[in-house]
Amino acid sequence: MDKLTFGWEEWVALPDLGLPAIRAKVDTGARTSALHAHDIEVFGPAAKPKVRFNVHPISGRQDVSITCSAPLVDRREVTSSNGETEQRFVIASTLSVGEQEWPIEITLTNRATMSSRMLLGRQALSDHISISPTEKRLQPDLSYDVYHTAALKRRAPKRALRIAVLSREDNYSTRRLVEVGDARGHTVEVINTTRCYMAINTMAPEVHYDGKRLPRYDAVIPRIGASITPYGTAVIRQFETIGTYCVNGSAGITASRDKLHAHQVLASKKIGMPVTAFAASPKDTSNLMGLVGTAPLIVKLLESTQGKGVVLAETKKAAESVIDAFRGLKANFLVQDFVKEAAGEDIRCLVIAGKVVAAMKRTGAEGDFRSNLHRGGSATVVRITREERDTAVRAARAFGLGKAGVDLLRSTDGPKVLEVNSSPGFEGIEKATGKDIVGKLYDEIEARVKPQPSRRRKA
Ligand SMILES: Nc1ncnc2c1ncn2[C@@H]1O[C@H](COP(=O)(O)OP(=O)(O)OP(=O)(O)O)[C@@H](O)[C@H]1O
Ligand SMILES: [Mg+2]
Repeated sequence: MDKLTFGWEEWVALPDLGLPAIRAKVDTGARTSALHAHDIEVFGPAAKPKVRFNVHPISGRQDVSITCSAPLVDRREVTSSNGETEQRFVIASTLSVGEQEWPIEITLTNRATMSSRMLLGRQALSDHISISPTEKRLQPDLSYDVYHTAALKRRAPKRALRIAVLSREDNYSTRRLVEVGDARGHTVEVINTTRCYMAINTMAPEVHYDGKRLPRYDAVIPRIGASITPYGTAVIRQFETIGTYCVNGSAGITASRDKLHAHQVLASKKIGMPVTAFAASPKDTSNLMGLVGTAPLIVKLLESTQGKGVVLAETKKAAESVIDAFRGLKANFLVQDFVKEAAGEDIRCLVIAGKVVAAMKRTGAEGDFRSNLHRGGSATVVRITREERDTAVRAARAFGLGKAGVDLLRSTDGPKVLEVNSSPGFEGIEKATGKDIVGKLYDEIEARVKPQPSRRRKA
C-alpha cells in the first residue's frame, strides 16, 4: 500500500455500510474509531450476532438517513474525550480512502454532542498513515451529493436484513420463509400476530410482544389468517405508521378479504369477474337471481374457504332452496353466474411485485365443479395467456398487494377473477411448478429496502 498522509479531517467511505461519503475527524487520542449512530439494535443468532443501526451521514441533515447492518465483533467499555464511559457495540467494517481500502473496527455511539459523524482512531490509522495535524482534506474529495442521486441505491451493499413474518402457523410457507431468508444471510423472526399488543398514541407508535417493544424490522411479511383479519391488519397498520416496509399493506388485505368489498374494487378497475349479486336480506329471491342470469347459478357463503360453502344450483328451483336455506341460517352469501366453460378448473397466478412469477391449473376431482386442492383437486403447471397475466397483475395492483394469489376462471369472454388472496400458500405452487417463489419474494424485499436518495435542500 502507498503511504497516505491524513490531515485532521478527511473524506472517507464505508462501503460495507452503504455510506459512500462521510467526513471523519482524526482522533489519535482514541484507539478505536467511532461512528455516530442511532436506533442501534442487536439481532441474529447468538453465535453470529449482527447490529442494525441508522446513520445520518450529513451533519445537520436528520432527513438523510441510512440503515446499516454489520457483524458485531465485541462490546467494549469506551471512555470518550469528555470523560464519560459507556458500553459500546464494536463492528467490523472496511474503510475506503481514495483508491485504498482496509479493514477497521468501529464503535457505535449515539452522542448528540459528537460534533463529527465519525472519529478515526489509531487502530484505523495503522502503520501506513502519517498525520499532518495542521492540514485538512489531503485525500481525494468526496461529496455528500451521492445521498441525493440514484447512485446511492446502485452502490448499496447487500445487507443482512431483519424481517418479521406475522404468522400463527408453523406450516410449509412459514418454514420456507425462514429457511430461504436465513440462507440469504437475513434474520427472519416469526411473530404470532395475536400476541402483539399496541399502545395507540401519537407519541410512539410501537408494537409490543411478550413484555418488550418489538425491534425495528427492515420488512414485515404478513401471513394473517382470515379469522384474525381485523386484529392482524391493526398490527400491520402500526408497522406502517413506524415506516416499516410491509410486503402487503393493511388496506389491501382488508379489502381483499371482504368478498363484497373485493368485488367492488375489481369492478371499479374494470377487471373481469363472474357476474355477481349480493344482498343483506333480499325478500325477493327471484329478483336477486335475476340480476345474475338464469340457472345454473353458484351460491357462495361469504365465509367459504376450501370450497366448503360453494354450491352449484342446476335449476332455478334448486337455487331458491339453497338461498332460502342460507337465509334461514342468517348466513351471508352471494349469487354468481356459473362459468360452465371453466369445467372444474381454475388458474392460480402467483403475483410478486407486479409480475406473475408462477401459475398453476387446479383441476377438481372427477365430477366436482370445484377445483380446490383440499377437495382432492390436482395441480399442474400451466402456460397462461397474455390477457390472463395482465388480469392477474392488475387484480393484485388493485389492492396494492406485493404478493398475491389471484384465482381466475377461463371463460369464453376472457379471464374472470374469483379471488385475490393476500396470504397465498407456497407449497402447492412451488411443488407444481418447481419454482423458487419464496426466493423471488426475497428478491423484491431486498430491492425495496435499498436506501432511497433524499431530496436536495435549496441553499
Ligand atoms: N362462478 C363460478 N363458476 C364456475 N366455477 C366456480 C365459480 N365460483 C367458484 N367456482 C369453483 O369453485 C371453487 C371454489 O370457489 P371459491 O374459490 O370462490 O371459494 P373457496 O375456495 O371456498 O373460497 P376461497 O377461495 O375464498 O378460500 C373455485 O376454485 C372454482 O373451481
Ligand atoms: Mg378458492
